Amino acid sequence: MTRTDPAAGPVLGIETSCDDTSVAVLENGRRLRSHLIAAQDVHRLYGGVVPELASRAHLELLPKLVEGALAEAGVTPKDLTAIAVTHAPGLVGSLVVGVAFAKAWAAALGVPVIGVNHIEAHLHSSSLEHGECPLPAVALVVSGGHTELVEVRGLGEYRWLGATLDDAAGEAYDKVAKRLGLGFPGGPVLDRLATRGRADAFDFPRPMLDRPGFDFSFSGLKTSVANVLKGRGEPPYPEEFVNDVAASFQAAVVETLVGKSLRAIVHVGAKALCLGGGVACNRALRAALGEACGQLGVALRIPSPRLCADNAAMIALVGAWRLARGERSGPELDAAASLEASGLPLGG
Ligand code: KG4
Ligand code: ZN
Repeated sequence: MTRTDPAAGPVLGIETSCDDTSVAVLENGRRLRSHLIAAQDVHRLYGGVVPELASRAHLELLPKLVEGALAEAGVTPKDLTAIAVTHAPGLVGSLVVGVAFAKAWAAALGVPVIGVNHIEAHLHSSSLEHGECPLPAVALVVSGGHTELVEVRGLGEYRWLGATLDDAAGEAYDKVAKRLGLGFPGGPVLDRLATRGRADAFDFPRPMLDRPGFDFSFSGLKTSVANVLKGRGEPPYPEEFVNDVAASFQAAVVETLVGKSLRAIVHVGAKALCLGGGVACNRALRAALGEACGQLGVALRIPSPRLCADNAAMIALVGAWRLARGERSGPELDAAASLEASGLPLGG
């Protein structure tokens, strides 16, 4: 990359696909000069993300965050060489805010804009801290909206191995936490309580682990937890009981994710496993994968928690990589809600 190359940066990254508004400034395709994430707390009141409120919050937060990120990076708008923005998949109303903002700024500054796929960015987010990934790799993206196992052979060279047939892993955490009266989001609190409970207190199923293939299903597990709660009335439940449910539920989720990931690593002959998505913050999952990958002699690449969750740094990174290949988005760049509509190869 030369200094005049838009990929050399500073590239402004913008992420607004769900309920986090995030902005980053990336230079030379790897040096993060600033990175701001504003979690929208308003959704806690409703026990889940309210799309209409998310769009409105993005609209309010985005200009302030861009101003803050530029100031922290020590650059002016005129220094920017390109803008990278999440255009799919996600909540369409939220995506539209980021895409419209990015296009308007790019036009005003006379720099290129590049639309980035949010899942593709999660696949590569570990490269921000760990550098180039040994290939082929398997990526596990586990968040509130996704559970994806993907073979990665290079930028844009993907083969989808499996995905959830119903609830995403993070969604299962959130729904179980809600049933237990633990608030939203459920992952962090269940992760914490699980360390105090007995993982063998309840014999929850390990969904689809006994079946061939790489797909997941978490809605049956959620129902099994609901069955244990039947006849116990409404929360609050006794502390020891909640800890035991948390530990047993978490053990089932982690065993399932680890089992399918290892199967995918062997199938692909992968040299590395890359994690992404909010559930990748889970301490039990990180520890279990660390042990399993160590035994297999496969590199495990887990981003720090800030880069696991939705963030603009990973958007700027993949945007810079694509810009360096000469790619640009045209005026037709638009938001797309589904992964299928987002233009990534989904073969498998
Ligand atoms: O990637 P993310 O920030 O947003 C999207 O869903 O795209 O992921 C949020 C999800 C939530 O479902 C949350 O409960 C889950 O990640 N999560 C966790 C943990 N931290 C966040 N799940 C399990 N253990 C955690 N420590
Ligand atoms: Zn995400």
